[in-house]
Amino acid sequence: MAFHWYPGHMNKAKNQVQDRLKLVDVVIEIVDARLPLSSRNPMLDSITNNKKRVIILNKSDLADPKASTVWRDYFEEHGISAYIVDSKHANNMNNLINSIKKEVAQKVEKYQNAGVKNYKIKAMCIGIPNVGKSTILNRFAGKNIAVTGNKPGVTKNQNWIKTKYDVDIIDTPGILWPKIEDEKVGLKLALTGAIKDSVFHADDVALFAIDYFKKYYPEKLIKAYKVTEEDLELENPELLLLMTKKMGMRDDFDRMSEKIMMDVRKGTLGAYTLDQIDEAENAID
Ligand code: G4P
Repeated sequence: MAFHWYPGHMNKAKNQVQDRLKLVDVVIEIVDARLPLSSRNPMLDSITNNKKRVIILNKSDLADPKASTVWRDYFEEHGISAYIVDSKHANNMNNLINSIKKEVAQKVEKYQNAGVKNYKIKAMCIGIPNVGKSTILNRFAGKNIAVTGNKPGVTKNQNWIKTKYDVDIIDTPGILWPKIEDEKVGLKLALTGAIKDSVFHADDVALFAIDYFKKYYPEKLIKAYKVTEEDLELENPELLLLMTKKMGMRDDFDRMSEKIMMDVRKGTLGAYTLDQIDEAENAID
């Protein structure tokens, strides 16, 4: 299955990243703001070691705003500038680009002092599939461009994408899969739609969602699925069955599971974040 961590695939992606790394001034790592930890590729910390790096917490419109701030502060405390972005709705990337430019201002100045005129900043956007790399690149470029790095098997020449902000971005290399060492990470990725195929059963994903939302966002379950606060004290499978009945699906809990999964994925239940800051211990090398 595509999302398994094959050492061969990972080494290839790693080499491709490393090759291109030499050509850029800054690495823009894109994560899903709902999963600031689980949607990161853990390899990046070590391979981008000596490079300026910024993190974009994308899809912020779908994430819990308080949690996004906590995560942004967390990354900043670890020396990585982080930006909360909603690239689907925000057309204007001026502020973001200006901040990224500031990150490399010293380097640009060095070049300028050495006589290089009009030095153009070169960047690389990187992230696991579905975090919004293409969307962000399109915003930067101001037009629709195809990102080859999203497709397996495509020959990856070095494509430079010109942006309207005077920064060139190298096309994303290879596919950086998330590392799913822990089933919980897989369930989180499935719940947000980063994994769309059937690696996980909908009922397992729904039960995970019920468990998580009971703890962190109980009011969302109460509002969406006609259950009461007392109902939430039921064990998760019983609660799923009760929701199934209350939503008029008799005992078709498969259908209800699918609904819960899709509701969470699309944000119908409202904004949420699935990674908690206390899970972040040793998250950054
Ligand atoms: P990728 O290149 O990293 O694989 O991701 P891509 O840009 O293709 O984005 C994946 C999905 O996430 C797309 O939705 C895209 O519209 C959505 N997306 C990207 N950025 C944001 C954001 O900031 N907020 C929200 N809400 N969604 C975002 P899709 O379902 O594949 O397509 P569509 O619904 O846009 O047609």
